[in-house]
Amino acid sequence: MKKIRIGALISGSGSNLQAIINACEAGHINGEMVFVGSDNPAAYGLVRAQNHGIPVFVVDYGAIIRSHKLEPGKTRLPADFCLEGIRARQTLFAQEVDPVKTEFFLKTRVAAEDALLQNMTGHAFDLVVLAGFMRNLTPYFIDHVNPDPLRPRIMNIHPALLPAFPGVDGYGDTFRYGCKVGGCTVHFIDYGEDSGPIIGQRSFPICPEDTLENVKKKGLELEWQLYPECIQLFAEGRLACVPTEITHPDGRKSTRLIVKIKA
Ligand code: GAR
Repeated sequence: MKKIRIGALISGSGSNLQAIINACEAGHINGEMVFVGSDNPAAYGLVRAQNHGIPVFVVDYGAIIRSHKLEPGKTRLPADFCLEGIRARQTLFAQEVDPVKTEFFLKTRVAAEDALLQNMTGHAFDLVVLAGFMRNLTPYFIDHVNPDPLRPRIMNIHPALLPAFPGVDGYGDTFRYGCKVGGCTVHFIDYGEDSGPIIGQRSFPICPEDTLENVKKKGLELEWQLYPECIQLFAEGRLACVPTEITHPDGRKSTRLIVKIKA
């Protein structure tokens, strides 16, 4: 079977990236890492990638955001950018949230995402994995990578048992809430925050003597197993996204993409 080509986006230490690279090299994932991109020039994961001869690039989100604050007119937006279209599709913010703030967010993120996409051109890929990438992606990037919504190909790992505790500090939120179980989730990306179709989850007990530090340690060790396993299911063509009608307790109906794992 042909190896899948995997691109990764990271922001920090890159221990998940390392687990994925190791799994590719050991043959546990039938794939190869073809690029690693980061929003953070200082991400240690870039060094990990270079140690394995993987091409890397950086799009400095912080610099783009700072420059837009100073001179918004200078921000380079792609020719196919349509603010209203993206605003209507995204579900990161409620539609009634301050339109000026939303516009600032969407313009700066799309400028950065356009640069990501330009860097990714030339590295053909089958799957993008977010491995500790601490930026929300807008529909602009998602639609360019996923032209077919029924065949998503951007995966994320989140440090909580979704849909509980989306956001930037999953283990911290789980611990402070007093949960007796923590966990991690691998899911496909959709237009919301950590709200896409769930592929796999792992859990661990949180004991009275646990600190936040060892909750994070227990969680990360499970992440390093779960993420490669989910990527291998993708490589084997075993992940099907099925639009499924859901009836809510109040009688309202909606449709959600649900991942079915084929035998
Ligand atoms: C991991 O715990 C991952 O689940 C989390 O960041 C950490 C990255 O560690 N991701 C998120 O919170 C995404 N919202 P790593 O850089 O060592 O892989």
